[in-house]
Amino acid sequence: MKLNFDNNFKLTDTVEIPCIGYGTWQTPSGDVARECVKNAIKAGYRHIDTAAIYGNEEDVGTGIIESGVSREKIFLTTKHWISERGYEKTLKAVDDSLKRLKTDYIDLYLIHWPCVEKISPDWKEINASTWAGFEKAYKDGKIRALGVSNFLPEHILALEETAEIKPCVNQIEFHPGYYQPENVKWCIEHGMTVEAWSPMGSGAVLNDYTLNKIAKKYNVSAGQVCIRFALQSGVLPLPKSTNADRMKLNLDVFGFELSEEDMLAIRTMPPVGYSTFHPTEAPADAL
Ligand code: A2P
Repeated sequence: MKLNFDNNFKLTDTVEIPCIGYGTWQTPSGDVARECVKNAIKAGYRHIDTAAIYGNEEDVGTGIIESGVSREKIFLTTKHWISERGYEKTLKAVDDSLKRLKTDYIDLYLIHWPCVEKISPDWKEINASTWAGFEKAYKDGKIRALGVSNFLPEHILALEETAEIKPCVNQIEFHPGYYQPENVKWCIEHGMTVEAWSPMGSGAVLNDYTLNKIAKKYNVSAGQVCIRFALQSGVLPLPKSTNADRMKLNLDVFGFELSEEDMLAIRTMPPVGYSTFHPTEAPADAL
């Protein structure tokens, strides 16, 4: 199938998600985040990704309202932070996010980081009780789709031992130079949509020689090659930019197609741009 901007990913029987999202990690709260979100919507984005820990949910909410585009036309994702683990705290976290975002529903809500064995021997129970809160908020109509972020297959399988509703998304670090192929393959085969955070390695991969050589061949930028690499890998990219021209550029990725040879060259690039945030190693509260 030829990719185009209108190809949504299907999350559930009733929920579809636009195939490129606008990422807001590290976008400073206040005027910057608000203007960025307005500019992104103006540029054509209809899918915005934020998180409670980013500290910019209020500005994302205001930006959406001030954009003049109706709420139903925007797909909005936010994430549950690790300090809010457990059933009751999760219910409150959902309501707090809704209030900050100034909306009465979240399109997609993600567990931001799994609780893992290294953090607690009760990690499975902790994730399960958080998930039970997700399911309650879903049943109450506050969330349209439920997912996870930074999970490995072992964490997803553990969650599914008690989950009534299976997670439909895993959002992970994915970019040339660090693209977690086993995790991506497993999730897709498991029927999940994989989303890429830092699809350009937070900018760290953009000077890479191979990427720039490929970009030149197609007369595009290294950033566009990164977005295309995600899409052609079956992964939904969430590029972040505070610059209105680059926001547009990052959506302008449907006029070229990377050859299989170039995809292979990207897949076999030496490691570059890895954030060092790993579910089982990084202290999640270092984010
Ligand atoms: P800026 O905000 O000045 O555009 P990621 O999406 O992987 O997190 O990468 C985001 C980083 O890459 C930001 O520093 C952003 O800077 C930069 N960036 C985003 N899009 C592009 C692009 N098309 N070309 C070059 N740099 C870009």
